[in-house]
Amino acid sequence: MKILILGGDGYLGWPTAMHFAARGHEVAVADNLGKRFWEAEMGVTPLFHIPPLQRRVRIWNEMKRGPKPMKLYIGDIAQNHRFVYHLFEDFRPDAVVHYAEQPSAPYSMVSRLQAVSTQVNNVSGTLNVLFAMKRYTPAAHLIKLGTMGEYGTPNIDIEEGWIEIEHKGRKDRMLFPKQPGSFYHLSKVHDSHNIEFACRIWGMRSTDLNQGVVYGMETDETAMHPELLTSFHYDEIFGTALNRFAVQAVAGMPLTVYGAGGQTRGFLNIRDTLQCVELAAMNQAKEGEFRVFNQFTEAFSVMDLAHKVKEAGEALGLNVAIANVENPRIEKEAHYYNPKNTALFSLGLKHHPLTQDVIMGMLKKIMSSRDVIDRATINPTVKWRKS
Ligand SMILES: NC(=O)c1ccc[n+]([C@@H]2O[C@H](COP(=O)([O-])OP(=O)(O)OC[C@H]3O[C@@H](n4cnc5c(N)ncnc54)[C@H](O)[C@@H]3O)[C@@H](O)[C@H]2O)c1
Repeated sequence: MKILILGGDGYLGWPTAMHFAARGHEVAVADNLGKRFWEAEMGVTPLFHIPPLQRRVRIWNEMKRGPKPMKLYIGDIAQNHRFVYHLFEDFRPDAVVHYAEQPSAPYSMVSRLQAVSTQVNNVSGTLNVLFAMKRYTPAAHLIKLGTMGEYGTPNIDIEEGWIEIEHKGRKDRMLFPKQPGSFYHLSKVHDSHNIEFACRIWGMRSTDLNQGVVYGMETDETAMHPELLTSFHYDEIFGTALNRFAVQAVAGMPLTVYGAGGQTRGFLNIRDTLQCVELAAMNQAKEGEFRVFNQFTEAFSVMDLAHKVKEAGEALGLNVAIANVENPRIEKEAHYYNPKNTALFSLGLKHHPLTQDVIMGMLKKIMSSRDVIDRATINPTVKWRKS
């Protein structure tokens, strides 16, 4: 297949591009390098130095692992529709994996500027992609990364995107109600509606992957060469829960659990993100179908997660403390949580559970860069409600 990865410079986009290329697909990556600007704006850096995307693509192509060299397009999918049209006209993908969005809830809550730019970037980019696909590749499959955070924490079971509703004696199948927790999560909800509309009205085919929180830094392909690594964040803005706890454990800082720590979320290993996206691509949605998969493998409370990191750290001789800090977010700290996630398993997902060994592997890798950890960027300063 010809697979286009939008957001190919990112934490998930780069490993995904190599994963498909290593399995014999023809791959192109596109990115505006916007994440590197947002990092500079927030004064944070990934833990390990990430070579320019051009260099990583060159190194990959020199290894001759794919059927054809990986192609690279640099441009902005939200602000430059001509770039997007050129991309689709030139590469003509069979499947598009769309990661190219501003991915941080705290970033979107910094101020009006970041809230607006997150929604404009994410929603316009997806709209431009839909119009370009309609014009050049209407039969292609759009695999779009959404998040489990779109649903929030309702007091009922969470279905995979759709729900049968009976109201006043009549029934219908509707999109599952959403209660997103930030302007970032809202941008994903708006995307989901726009994509469902394009499937319903234009007959496009799409899979919306409502992904949980991803952890880990290594995949088969990132391990092939020291410069093929992927971006690993641990700061309050871009660092996701487990990644952040692992760095705090190595830095000798208490693991900062926001509030009571009963917040329960779906998680998955970065290796399973690649598997899930591949399963979606190899089993494409039907013409006109808007399919939703809940993409996580295990659910943990934030406090459970902190205890797992503490245990793994102590097994490596680290002295790890856990601290409940004031919750900067507005969210329920004790709640019902029962999301369904059977669709990807029924397609054959074999997941990597979060074991002590997995966490110890992460901790050992982080220890090799202990000296460059910027401790000042970890504790939360962005607040959902300004006091
Ligand atoms: N990492 C997670 O835990 C997680 C969980 C759920 C959902 N997601 C979603 O998965 C996707 C990828 O996440 P990630 O952690 O790899 O983020 P990332 O920021 O590392 O990667 C996103 C990439 O998209 C690029 N990009 C953003 N806007 C663009 C634009 N307008 N034009 C071109 N390129 C653009 C960025 O430069 C960046 O390289 C995001 O959409 C994110 O919301 C991530």
